[in-house]
Amino acid sequence: MSKAKTFYVTTPIYYVNDKPHIGHAYTTILADVLARGHRLLGQPVHFLTGTDEHGLKVQQAAQKNGVTPQEHCDRTVVRFQELWQKLGITHDDFIRTTEPRHERIVQAILQDLYARGEIYAANYEGWYCVPCERFFTEKDLIDGCCPDCRRGVERLVEKNYFFRMGKYQQRLIEYIEQNPEFIQPSFRRQETLGFLQKQPLGDLCISRPKARLAWGIDLPFDPDYVTYVWFDALVNYISAVGYKSDQEQFARWWPASYHLIGKDILTTHTVYWPTMLMAMGLELPRTVYAHGWWLLDGEKVSKSKLAAAAAKDASAPADAAPAKAPSVNPMAMADQYGVDALRYFLMAAMSMGHDAEFSEEAFVNRFNAELANDLGNLVSRTVKMLHGHCGGILPAATAPGPAEEQLLAACQQAVRGMTEGIEKMQLDRGIAEVIAAVREGNRYFDANKPWQLAKEGQLERLAIVLRNTAECLRVVSGLLYPTMPGKMRTLRLTLGMAEENAEPVMHKLSSWNMLPDGAAILSLPTPLFPRIPVAAPQAAPVCGRKKPAPAPKAAPAAPATEEGANLITIADFSRIELRTAEILAAERVEGADRLLRLQLQVGQETRQIVAGIAQFYTPEELPGRTIVIVANLQPRELRGLRSCGMLLAAKHGDQLRLITTDGSIASGASVG
Ligand code: MSP
Repeated sequence: MSKAKTFYVTTPIYYVNDKPHIGHAYTTILADVLARGHRLLGQPVHFLTGTDEHGLKVQQAAQKNGVTPQEHCDRTVVRFQELWQKLGITHDDFIRTTEPRHERIVQAILQDLYARGEIYAANYEGWYCVPCERFFTEKDLIDGCCPDCRRGVERLVEKNYFFRMGKYQQRLIEYIEQNPEFIQPSFRRQETLGFLQKQPLGDLCISRPKARLAWGIDLPFDPDYVTYVWFDALVNYISAVGYKSDQEQFARWWPASYHLIGKDILTTHTVYWPTMLMAMGLELPRTVYAHGWWLLDGEKVSKSKLAAAAAKDASAPADAAPAKAPSVNPMAMADQYGVDALRYFLMAAMSMGHDAEFSEEAFVNRFNAELANDLGNLVSRTVKMLHGHCGGILPAATAPGPAEEQLLAACQQAVRGMTEGIEKMQLDRGIAEVIAAVREGNRYFDANKPWQLAKEGQLERLAIVLRNTAECLRVVSGLLYPTMPGKMRTLRLTLGMAEENAEPVMHKLSSWNMLPDGAAILSLPTPLFPRIPVAAPQAAPVCGRKKPAPAPKAAPAAPATEEGANLITIADFSRIELRTAEILAAERVEGADRLLRLQLQVGQETRQIVAGIAQFYTPEELPGRTIVIVANLQPRELRGLRSCGMLLAAKHGDQLRLITTDGSIASGASVG
């Protein structure tokens, strides 16, 4: 089998201390849908996930609980393993960094790099953040605090070991420039390039003195030190597939097709990891794909955010709206709404690469519209009529006539869309194409009125309509199988497919009339996707943010002065949320001369704005600028693209200039 055809996908290995939340579930489900999707395309797949078990936080938690760090890990790892089982994750391997098979390889790599002078000892003085376990230079700090977690830092001087990362800076820049697929989406590639081009890359401190941290992998050449957790953790991607232990297995899977990561760990994966691989003389992964974050009320879903939400909720009256925290607990969501519905929502609702706001309201709305209404409805009326008028037997196939043309075209388009979605990491778009085919199925059903055909005794035509609708459902069930394996399996068996064909293969989905003539249609005692009752009308979610704050009570009218009625009060002005935003990437909008599509960093959130500035700026000159945007504007669609906010610019005659900041300031800062 040729190596190019294998598909090796990884998730980050999760900190064993964390309680899994929707963010962890997202990356793992995404990897699972891709793995299943590539199996559907007939490729050999290897899917790796696992846990990151060393470091200070584990050591401290174990101490607090009065157990050894290993015992602590053995207890907590189960949370992830049980969740993945519940969510139907089909990983081929689960690696724990405390396993001997991993520790051995980390030590072998360290020994080899040390022997070749790629690792050296030196005194290190710097600012250290205990919770993040990272050193920072003076200029990295923000207001004297850790730039990542914003907590206090300590001054430390100590002997340590360093990996000569800096010497690979130029080679890495060239590699990224020559391999556009290496870091995706492209605006993340720009981010890494910007970082590498802005300053000299230092060497990486890869040791921790045991006096400070004992819970780690011993350095093979100095027993007083353990390995820095990131150096240890990143190696999992190769130790799990046989590096230095099983050459054949390693040659089969490496380089990985995709490392899926959240944007929070971009630098470690696109700077540390590739330079480590260069030093080892190994190929780099084909693609590091950094997805966006799930946000809760505009902030990244995280352990602390959940704890805060739960605490806030504990004081709420008993009859208040459901708690925020449980709604992002994937176990609770799966229990309440079903595993497949959760998987579907996470894949369909996040536009790949961008942040998305998580809300139960958006979940329920999408479920009711696309699953209960569109798909569920098509399934139940087809199955009911096949039982009511064809004795529960699938009518024989006939050549599709002109009435079926549109239905066939929509199904073929869905096959193309989902294939592309899987191959190009655009699952949300693939799913949207499949739902479009479902809607076409409903339109075909309505237009051909099988209930009337039955009344008029036109049984031959009735059989044709039901057979073609069933074919549409076969294609749809196959295309949605990687996303909703449980429900789609039920649907495929309901359509009379044999057990051994329940798992689909893509080439059969692009052909029509593949259901066996005369197959026994099963009955569906309960709807596939029962509608979720909604108490009150819901407001449309606003992208990247919570619902806008209610308008303040009518502000007293501006006094009528000679200056005129155009004056506004401070209260009026305070309703407009102005924020700084860093432009990460810009591109032209096809077919629109005036528009540019901008990807912006606004604090912890990324968002897209489509702006009419193409006649004044080229896309190349914009990344890196900090501009000002109206952040709480209702999103709108421009040329089919969602625009979340508006940028500020000054206009005079035929001139236009963006409003930027006077000197550098963090993105997301409020302006006013
Ligand atoms: N242990 C490191 C990774 C080492 S990989 C060699 C780590 N672990 S983590 O437990 O913090 O998990 C990080 C990953 O969880 C993120 O990169 C992302 O994939 C996922 N998510 C955690 N919170 C998230 C959101 N709110 N939204 C989406 N995914 C996020 O970092």
